[in-house]
Amino acid sequence: MSDRHYFDDDPDVASSPHPVEISLPDVALTLTADRGVFSADRLDAGTKLLLLELPPFDDGARVLDIGCGWGPITCVVAARAATARIWAVDVNRRARELTAANAASTGVADRVRVATPDEVPDELVFDRIVSNPPIRIGKAALHDLLLRWLPRLTPEGTAHLVVQKHLGSDSLARWLSGQGYPTTRLASRAGYRILEVRRTDGRSRETV
Ligand SMILES: C[S@@+](CC[C@H](N)C(=O)[O-])C[C@H]1O[C@@H](n2cnc3c(N)ncnc32)[C@H](O)[C@@H]1O
Repeated sequence: MSDRHYFDDDPDVASSPHPVEISLPDVALTLTADRGVFSADRLDAGTKLLLLELPPFDDGARVLDIGCGWGPITCVVAARAATARIWAVDVNRRARELTAANAASTGVADRVRVATPDEVPDELVFDRIVSNPPIRIGKAALHDLLLRWLPRLTPEGTAHLVVQKHLGSDSLARWLSGQGYPTTRLASRAGYRILEVRRTDGRSRETV
């Protein structure tokens, strides 16, 4: 039995691509998922809640999807926000391939760049970060990951993260605020928190 996890790069489990439905009030898509990537059988419940709660995107928004998996966040945001340009990053090669294929089948490939984290040019900044982050990589690695990307937000930029309460959403929110990224709870439902993280504290609401 393999001891690999979903966050491994290029898991060597046999490929078995299959359709996955995304049904939201404003977007319906049939995408392709595969074994060896996160939530391969269905849209993750936390990801769905995040997609339901996301505030609208400004015209031409530069968006980063950290840990794109098979691409549900990237494809829904691109379908919903017709002028958004999205970088989808993941360490898992199969996830990147699925996201690229799903962006193509959704008709948004011209606005989506799929990349490894190291392939994102240093000078790029983002108006929005949207992520179901890889909590299971461990607290220290998760903190490193967030401190790698949050400084790439524009001064008015915001990040929206979905984190399960029992996996430490509230302590993560406090840690982010303590790092100088004021973090509020945008929504809380079914054991998930949607955290809204700001680059500056000028417009923050109640801090968690
Ligand atoms: C919880 S899953 C979310 C996947 C997808 N966005 C979704 O909502 O279904 C987290 C993803 O982060 C990826 N990941 C793990 N470590 C990463 C890292 N250091 N940088 C970028 N992505 C990473 C994993 O491969 C996985 O696809």
